[in-house]
Amino acid sequence: MGDILVVDDEQAIRESISMFLSEKGHRVHTAGTVAASLTAFESLKPCVVILDIRLPDGSGLDALAEMRSVHPLSKIIMITAFQDMETTIEAMKRGAYDYIHKPLDADELEKTTADAVESFHEDFRAMEKDHGRPSPADSGIVGKSRAMKDIYKMIGMVCQNRAAVLITGETGTGKELAARRIHLSSPFCKKPFVTFDCSAVVDTLLESELFGHAKGAFTGAVSSRPGKIELAGDGTLFLDEIGELPLNLQGKLLGFLERKQYMRVGGETLQQSRCRVIAATNRDLAKMVREKTFRSDLYYRLKVVTILMPPLRQRLSDIDDLTAHFIRKAAHDLGVKQMTLQEGALERLKRHPWTGNVRELENIIVAAAVRSRGSMIHLDTLESILSLYPVETEGLVQDRSLAGVETRHIFNILESVKWNRTRAAEILKISLPTLRKKILKYHLSPPEK
Ligand SMILES: Nc1ncnc2c1ncn2[C@@H]1O[C@H](COP(=O)(O)OP(=O)(O)OP(=O)(O)O)[C@@H](O)[C@H]1O
Ligand SMILES: [Mg+2]
Repeated sequence: MGDILVVDDEQAIRESISMFLSEKGHRVHTAGTVAASLTAFESLKPCVVILDIRLPDGSGLDALAEMRSVHPLSKIIMITAFQDMETTIEAMKRGAYDYIHKPLDADELEKTTADAVESFHEDFRAMEKDHGRPSPADSGIVGKSRAMKDIYKMIGMVCQNRAAVLITGETGTGKELAARRIHLSSPFCKKPFVTFDCSAVVDTLLESELFGHAKGAFTGAVSSRPGKIELAGDGTLFLDEIGELPLNLQGKLLGFLERKQYMRVGGETLQQSRCRVIAATNRDLAKMVREKTFRSDLYYRLKVVTILMPPLRQRLSDIDDLTAHFIRKAAHDLGVKQMTLQEGALERLKRHPWTGNVRELENIIVAAAVRSRGSMIHLDTLESILSLYPVETEGLVQDRSLAGVETRHIFNILESVKWNRTRAAEILKISLPTLRKKILKYHLSPPEK
C-alpha cells in the first residue's frame, strides 16, 4: 500500500488520523513540525502526505515546496481551516494533490486519501513503464561498419554531459536504441528515461502530458498531475517523433530548452528541471522549416548536436552481424538451441533495398525463423518472405539521394560480376581506384567465402 505521512502540530489530530488510516490498512507515520516532516519525508518517500498548513516552525507551504522537489511523485493533501482558504489556493497552485477541511470528516479523509494513493500508483507505474529499464542486452547496438563506429564515437562524446541531442535517420535505423544507449552510458543512467511520443496523443492533451497540469486546469483535471518533464527528474526526457509536435507546443518547448523552466497547464509558479533532452525524428526538419511547419529557432536550438543514423543499405557489411544477432534472439525465443542460415542467404539479404532498415531485417529474420521451425533457414523461405516487401518503392522511404542511388547501382553491378572489381569498373566507366574509393565510402562488401 505504501507509506503515509501525517503532519500536524496537534497530537490529538495526528493520533486520530493515524488510527483511522491504519485501520484501513495503510502504514502511517507522523510528524509535528516542518523540520521533522522533512526528515521523515526524505527517508520514507511516502506515497501520500497529509499536511497541515500552520506548523510551529514554519508554513506547510514551504514543506510542500521542499517535498515536491525531493520526491515529486508523492501526493500531498493539505489540511485547511476555513480562514486558510487563500493559503489553500496557493498550495494547489504549488502542486498539492488535494485538500481536506478542518474539522476533519472521516468520509472525506478516507476518500481523498484513497484517491491520492491510487493516483500515486498510477503515476509510478507510468514512470516505471517509461523507464523501460532496458537490460544491457536490449540496448546492445550491433554493427562494426565505419558508419556505426562513428555513431559509437558520437554517443561516447555526448553521454558525458546534459546538452540536448537530436537523432535523425530513416525509420528503423535505431534512433531510439541510440537514445537509450546515450542514457545508459551517462553518469545519470540510474535516473529515469522517460519517453514522450510527440505523435501519440491528441493535440489538446499533449501540453499537459509534457508539462503536467494543476488541479482544475481544465474540465476533467480533477487532480494535479506531473508531466513527463517532471517524471524525467534528473534523468533523460526522450522526445520521440519531434517532427510531429504541433507548432504552438514547439514554442513552449523551445522556452523550456532555453531556460530549463516551465509552467504546468493552469499552474502559476515556474517549475525547474534538470533533465537531459534527446529528440528523434525520421522527418526532414530542414525541409519542414522551409515549409514553415517546424519552427526554425527550435530547429537551430536542437540541431547543435545531431547524430545521423545511417540507413542500412549504406552499411551492408553490418548485415552479417545483425543477422547473426537476430537469429540468436529468435532461436532463443523459439526455444531452439541453434539456428543457421543456408549458404547464399546473407548475399541475398544484401541485395534487398532495406527501406525499413534494421527493423525490417529483424522482422524478416523472425518471420523466417518461425517458418523454419527446424534449425536451418532455407533460401526459399527467405525468398518468399522477402518477396512480400517492396523491392523498389516509390517516394517516401526509399533513399532517392544521388548517394543512395549510386550505392545501390554499384552494389548491383558488383554482384552481377561476382565482385570482379576490374570488370565492374569497366561497366561503370570509372577507374579502378575510384571504384575502390566508392566501395569504401558506401561500406559495400562482397559475400562471405
Ligand atoms: N544497430 C542495431 N543493433 C541491434 N538492433 C537494432 C539496431 N538498430 C535497430 N535495431 C532494432 O531495430 C528495431 C528498430 O529500432 P528503433 O526503434 O530504435 O528505430 P527508430 O529509428 O526509432 O525507428 P522509427 O523512426 O520507426 O521510430 C528495434 O527493435 C531495435 O532494437
Ligand atoms: Mg523510434
